[in-house]
Amino acid sequence: MTYQNLRVSISGDRIATLTLNRFDKLNALNSATVEELDRALAALEARDDVGGIIVTGAGRAFVAGADIAELAALSPEQARTFALTGQAAFARLEASARPVIAAVNGFALGGGCELAMACHVRLAADTARFGQPEVKLGLIPGYGGTQRLPRLVGPGHAAQLMLTGEIIDAAEAARIGLVNRVVPAAELIAVAEGLMRQMLANAPLAMTRVLDAIRRGVDAPPSALYHLEAASFSMLAGTEDAREGTAAFLEKRTPRFGGR
Ligand code: COA
Repeated sequence: MTYQNLRVSISGDRIATLTLNRFDKLNALNSATVEELDRALAALEARDDVGGIIVTGAGRAFVAGADIAELAALSPEQARTFALTGQAAFARLEASARPVIAAVNGFALGGGCELAMACHVRLAADTARFGQPEVKLGLIPGYGGTQRLPRLVGPGHAAQLMLTGEIIDAAEAARIGLVNRVVPAAELIAVAEGLMRQMLANAPLAMTRVLDAIRRGVDAPPSALYHLEAASFSMLAGTEDAREGTAAFLEKRTPRFGGR
């Protein structure tokens, strides 16, 4: 499948890399790019040879935000559709049954920061920059950022970022919990691939249930979800993978998971 503003590659070790590639506009998300992102995610979901997805950007930006040229011309009704369409694409990413790692290589501003937050894990190059500068444009984050940011960094840091529109460096992003780890720019993709391989060595069904439990927990109090945890734990205990994983440990060998 070909895309105008994305590159998608799939490695032999089941890692899909999705690269935002609207180079001359610092990978700004116009409607066409959001539509391609949604389509690419649907295509990856349907493949058996993909275990996890790395999202990154081409050039010096991860994504420098929603496309301001498009934003400038939107009516309120069109703006609602713009926000809802982006929210749906990012929700699809967040709902992925397979792990998604954001490898933030440069500017992750506005919709770019929101895209990173919709991924399950965030790694940042030491050259990355983060911010939610929408308030400087008379707008607010519209791709889920008002909700994901406070859940990740707490309401205080979220309010400061969204009210000042300030741009922070990767070290500060790590300090407040916006990213998991900062690595030298030249090593970013290798580190992301290494982390993904570490995940993909584990039991696929178990990982899917972890992601599902985390996602549901965002919307409900923990007390309401302990039964879900127990139900998943019970279901997994009956799988071949759980038999294989426990047996492999006891026999001091590497497990071979089949996803069943
Ligand atoms: N939407 C549309 N175009 C964008 C863009 C965005 N969010 N961010 C960058 N671009 C375009 C610029 O207009 C410029 O296009 P041009 O070469 O045709 O003039 C090109 O990308 C390069 O950006 P430029 O501003 O020249 O690079 P810079 O190094 O001077 O600054 C940024 C980099 C990221 C600080 C700056 O581009 C910026 O502030 N972007 C907007 C960030 C933002 O507010 N995002 C939230 C949107 S809701």
